[in-house]
Amino acid sequence: MERKRLSKALAAAGIASRRACEEIIFAGRVQVNGETIKLPQHHIDWNTDRISVDGQTVKSEQKKFYYMLNKPVGYICTNIRPGRQRIVLDLFPEASERLFTVGRLDKETSGLLLVTNDGHFANKVIHPSSNVIKEYIVKTEQEITPEHLETLSQGARVDEKWVRPVSVHKIRKGNFKICVQEGKKHEVRIIAERAGLTVIELTRTRIGSLVLGGLALGEFRPLTERDKELLFSSTTYCTRQ
Ligand code: URA
Repeated sequence: MERKRLSKALAAAGIASRRACEEIIFAGRVQVNGETIKLPQHHIDWNTDRISVDGQTVKSEQKKFYYMLNKPVGYICTNIRPGRQRIVLDLFPEASERLFTVGRLDKETSGLLLVTNDGHFANKVIHPSSNVIKEYIVKTEQEITPEHLETLSQGARVDEKWVRPVSVHKIRKGNFKICVQEGKKHEVRIIAERAGLTVIELTRTRIGSLVLGGLALGEFRPLTERDKELLFSSTTYCTRQ
């Protein structure tokens, strides 16, 4: 077997996304043949090297799991529990494999979240080149006016970059639907705030063409092959304004 960069090898083994694997390595949680390695570009060979994360041996090939979850409010997207807070993986009590969330939803956001142990898959969904559009339903304190819609559609500065929604539509009174392509932290809340709106509820309802559908809050189900295709199939429900 060829030699691989440590971060890439860990992602392929299903530890986390490539980026998150780099952080795990920087944090000194990875050992190669008993020695802590903090360099993501360190090369390893699965045949001859013994790799462990947090003291647990990692195998090159692990069975891959793919789930969609209807995340309830109050759960955090992280593998490391901050204090006594609830984390999304608490909703998967039977899972023995090392699962992680594909991207993040805020603690106060509910809705469609993918959970897997396949780092390649997670990268593909998250990477901007995949152009996967996410749809959110936002409930606000105020009634949505044409001025609000105009400001929302302009977008906002998020993390040093201007983020412009793919589309924004009023549903009724204080509810609107927004589609975004970026995956930036708090992006929808920041866009709403710039328009002078106070968000009461934020729910992700779609990723690509995969919809949350009737999945109950806190429930999850395995993704079918068709679901995985839907994630990456082009979307006609959001048209660039
Ligand atoms: N945008 C947000 O503001 N929050 C989320 O949880 C997801 C997208």
